[in-house]
Amino acid sequence: MSTTPLPAQHRALLLSTPESGFDAKTLPTPQPTPGSAIIRITAAGVLPYHGDVYNGTRRSNTVPTPLVGGFGAIGHVAVVGPDAVALKPGQLVYVDCVVRARDDPDSFFLSAIYSGSTEGSKKLMADGGWRDGTFAEFVRVPLENCIALDEGRLCQSLGYTVQDLVYMAYLLVPFGGIRDIGLQAGETIIVCPATGFYGSLGVQVAVAMGARVIAMGRSEEKLGRLVEDVKRRSLSRGVDIETVIITGDEDKDADALRAFGAADAVLDLTPAAAATSTHTKSAIKALRRGGRVSLMGSTTNFAVSQIMVNNITLKGKMMYERETIVHFAKMLERGLLPLGKDLIETKIFSLEDWKVAFDTAAEHNGVGKCVVITP
Ligand SMILES: NC(=O)c1ccc[n+]([C@@H]2O[C@H](COP(=O)([O-])OP(=O)(O)OC[C@H]3O[C@@H](n4cnc5c(N)ncnc54)[C@H](OP(=O)(O)O)[C@@H]3O)[C@@H](O)[C@H]2O)c1
Repeated sequence: MSTTPLPAQHRALLLSTPESGFDAKTLPTPQPTPGSAIIRITAAGVLPYHGDVYNGTRRSNTVPTPLVGGFGAIGHVAVVGPDAVALKPGQLVYVDCVVRARDDPDSFFLSAIYSGSTEGSKKLMADGGWRDGTFAEFVRVPLENCIALDEGRLCQSLGYTVQDLVYMAYLLVPFGGIRDIGLQAGETIIVCPATGFYGSLGVQVAVAMGARVIAMGRSEEKLGRLVEDVKRRSLSRGVDIETVIITGDEDKDADALRAFGAADAVLDLTPAAAATSTHTKSAIKALRRGGRVSLMGSTTNFAVSQIMVNNITLKGKMMYERETIVHFAKMLERGLLPLGKDLIETKIFSLEDWKVAFDTAAEHNGVGKCVVITP
């Protein structure tokens, strides 16, 4: 691994104005500052909705311009700031997108895709020196956003390519909620709805953790495909996934869930378009006494008397904490997730092909699917 000095210039995908679209440009290479590392990016993740973020149609995700685009990525440390004590040049790292203010961790933004909801978050993204994302040869990253990965174990023993490892950026979102409610091996978790981007990945993560999953969805066909995809890409032959159709009849759907016995937990990833759907209520009604619910989506329809009567815990969760990423890396290194390139289909694009990459990610997403830009 090269640890040569940084070049004066590098290539990056720059959004000059919301209207302009991206251009692959030659820009000054970012330089290290105290508290940062410069990472040479190998592969940066593309989200199914990246195109909508940058063309302004995803109104919940505002970003300042000019901006180098990006998301979670995998790369090698090129240079570290003077206060780094563990990271060394050449180390393989996962670059995480959740950037928190050091004097107020409640102020955070998601690098290059979401400027946050508070004045502090927006100020941090606009002026904090961390604005630019990973669609670039080099990126300056807060030290705490660099998670060391065991390259020998992951890429030699377990057969991942560095590009495949970007898949962890997607899985971390549902894992954040699952870990927040303390899901244990052997427990039963209801994932609702389970056929979307993060829902389907939530099913895969819960299965990898040794849980039984009840996947709720509107479409029998999509649920069938989901079960097949997760089983095909699982290590264990005893994968236990049940499915329940969302009919809109709250009690009927709760009965269908209860037919599998009382569940321990719910992972809710309801999109805004389904905010008033009854599935979250049905799921809560199917929980055992003391059950836990992670609310990661946009449901507004969850008030049921069982929350009080059955001592149910409801927890909202935005993304995940740093220790969650570190723990996920350990799970990956122990081989608990699907192994090797045969089980993750990663489509790779150059900086110049950003538009095709965004269009591809809008279709090629979910269990075992990954799209990356390699600067
Ligand atoms: N908390 C966090 O950190 C975090 C991070 C990222 C995203 N999120 C949130 O997570 C949620 C899910 O995101 P996503 O990207 O996974 O969304 P997505 O891919 O669009 O998921 C859509 C899912 O919702 C289902 N659905 C759509 N309309 C429905 C309706 N009227 N009734 C019942 N089900 C319906 C879809 O079912 P079909 O398959 O049948 O269409 C599919 O299962 C969003 O609210 C997003 O903002 C939260």
